[in-house]
Amino acid sequence: MERPQNCILVIFGASGDLTQRKLVPALMDLFRLNLLPKSFVVLGVGRKPWSDEDFRVFLGKSLNEFSHSRTGPEETAKFLGKFFFLSLDPQDGEGFRNLKNRLKELDRQFGIGENYMYYLSTPPSLFDPIVRNLGANNLQREESRSEKWKRLIIEKPFGYDLASARALIKKIRKVFREPQIYRIDHYLGKETVQNILVFRFANGIFEPLWNRHYVHHVEITAAESIGVEDRGGYYEGTGVVRDMIQNHLLQILGVVAMEPPSAFDPDAVRNETVKIFQSLRPIPEAEVEKSVVRGQYTASLIKGKNVPGYREEKGVKPDSRTETFAAMKVFVDNWRWGGVPFYIRAGKRLPTRVTEVVIHFRATPHFLFTKDNANRSGLNQLILRVQPNEGIMLKFGMKVPGGGFRVKNVSMDFLYSDLSETRLPEAYERLLLDGMLGDSTLYARGDAVEACWGFIDPILKAWKQDPAIKIYGYPAGTWGVEQANTLFMEHGVEWRYPCKNLVDDGVVCEL
Ligand code: BG6
Repeated sequence: MERPQNCILVIFGASGDLTQRKLVPALMDLFRLNLLPKSFVVLGVGRKPWSDEDFRVFLGKSLNEFSHSRTGPEETAKFLGKFFFLSLDPQDGEGFRNLKNRLKELDRQFGIGENYMYYLSTPPSLFDPIVRNLGANNLQREESRSEKWKRLIIEKPFGYDLASARALIKKIRKVFREPQIYRIDHYLGKETVQNILVFRFANGIFEPLWNRHYVHHVEITAAESIGVEDRGGYYEGTGVVRDMIQNHLLQILGVVAMEPPSAFDPDAVRNETVKIFQSLRPIPEAEVEKSVVRGQYTASLIKGKNVPGYREEKGVKPDSRTETFAAMKVFVDNWRWGGVPFYIRAGKRLPTRVTEVVIHFRATPHFLFTKDNANRSGLNQLILRVQPNEGIMLKFGMKVPGGGFRVKNVSMDFLYSDLSETRLPEAYERLLLDGMLGDSTLYARGDAVEACWGFIDPILKAWKQDPAIKIYGYPAGTWGVEQANTLFMEHGVEWRYPCKNLVDDGVVCEL
């Protein structure tokens, strides 16, 4: 595999959670696979008054806790030797001169060649001052006809609504050009999401079926069994639609629904996904109650343990109306998908952790085996399991051996775990590598972010403005609110419940 050009990765928010849990373990994996540039330096930036050595000690502890690779002391020391720290308040414009000087020094010392990648792993309120200060010091400038690059990776949340996302796009583009900007959506970095592209466009047999003539409906589910944990304060101002649906699930929808791109390059692929986002049928504010259901988990007993309700979580208002579950019915108004409903749901404190896409194929036009079978629909499903137990399952009807013609649903499965010696890389490993290689295919483009917000905005506005729109309670550990079944599902269509039996002891899970 290709190794990136030499570069310095500057991480703003270097002492934060994401750096510890995701970025540094991902870099360690790349290091072990020999996929980091030959000359590579990480400059951590943060307010802490740390020395390089303090930073390395801190990261050593993080690796012990969060990295799945176990390395010997020598290898770890070699890896950590690439890390340096600069104490800097991101709001302090003057301080950025120090950053410029430090970059020059490190560049010279390690023969980097002036390729810099700035990673904003900070609260969104700091995106603007950091970008402005980088610009004021010309740290974003790429000389024309020079190969030396400067790139910016931005973490989510990218905006809070359409207006703020647009404003942010505008501010950042005053300093960086769009091709320099890499907006992270870590779901696009998941191996199984990328495999949807290969599954669809490397195989000839599925494409003819992938349209309104053969697909009855599509389900996209992201269930999490955890609650908001210690992020109550953040979540309270966010909710599941902003946290999961506006970004991760719509990006999955884009990959599932897109037309084949003309080539496999960042623009061609993202031109197709953006068309999907632009084709989402708007849900006008007045229709939100009919097409979108929201819920909030309430206290419950799971496996004999008391689990608090959302309103009892730290940082959450006792009368909060923030949704921890949402389900919606969405249409993609184009020739391929006209009339096919896409049902999307996501939530916290559901019975299990599972993310999957289910393509439900239409039933046969005339069912022959009526005598022994009441139900002929729902026999053919294709399940693209994003996580966990990653794989692809194709369900079809088979004759139950013996007399008569009873039809039973069976499954043909591919599981990644059956591939020996294959490790599924972490999303951040792939995304960091692609960023250094200058490949933005798996990053969200500005127009896509804007189109997704454009679709979500009326839903959030309706919820904010109309207190009469209900937010339903659901006991923690159950599959969200019942109204997600009754309010907008067509007759005979049900959500798939990958783990059926719910609260309390004796949880039975198919997974
Ligand atoms: C994050 C959300 O973007 O994705 C979290 O902020 C959520 O609330 C997480 O838990 C889920 O990611 P994953 O990779 O664990 O499915």
